[in-house]
Amino acid sequence: MANSTSGDSVTDRLVRVLETFTPTRTVQTAAEIGRRAGLPGSSAHRIVGELVETGLLERDDDRRIRIGMRLWELATRSSQALRLRQASMPAMERVQSRVREHTQLAILEQDEALFLERLSAPDSGANVTRIAARLPLHASSSGLVLLAFGERDLQERILAAPLPPLTRETITDPAALRRKLAEVRTLGHAVAPGFIETVSTGVAVPVRDETGTVAAALSVVLRRDAPIEPALVELHSGKREIERALGFRG
Ligand code: PHB
Repeated sequence: MANSTSGDSVTDRLVRVLETFTPTRTVQTAAEIGRRAGLPGSSAHRIVGELVETGLLERDDDRRIRIGMRLWELATRSSQALRLRQASMPAMERVQSRVREHTQLAILEQDEALFLERLSAPDSGANVTRIAARLPLHASSSGLVLLAFGERDLQERILAAPLPPLTRETITDPAALRRKLAEVRTLGHAVAPGFIETVSTGVAVPVRDETGTVAAALSVVLRRDAPIEPALVELHSGKREIERALGFRG
């Protein structure tokens, strides 16, 4: 695609514009987008204007920009995530109604856990997870499941990279993480007490698709003092239900 004078392609600049939107920064001015995308003001205004015309971005009454419904529509339509989410919803609703705490579904995406769905009751405890947001693999129960059952290359890459602490209880030592991953594989679930926030314990189980590959992690976020066992029973029965819906005959 045609290059600008700075040498980056149209696609590069488009992606940089879209990536200025984050789970917590969903509305911005065109000037803010330009600054964050590293684009001159005139290019930023032009690209944003073109994206608004196509509906991929939307402009509100205050001329602030957000992601357009058209982009959501296109992204959701073709996505494998849609099938996974649809297969999981009945089981997630059952787990949520029985455990009465946040129930969520995550997949592996670019070395992080990406959350496709989260069901919560008004009185559920703390939770840092957002739909369409990510958590680090080493610091969340879902991430630990995806990592433990993931490919060898992925494990070695994560174990070789810095493991930043999110609390004092996050595993930051590669040898300790290796032991934790072995434990997750043996037990068939991950428990992450206080790894991401001190007041909560994440509990996650792997979900296999029709090929037998772990395609997702189903998890609940419990209050730190809550018993784990009843939640695990519900997670295991929920996971089996999703696997049946996906066609896994294990
Ligand atoms: C976890 O999966 O370990 C987890 C996720 C969100 C939280 C706490 C724990 O808020």
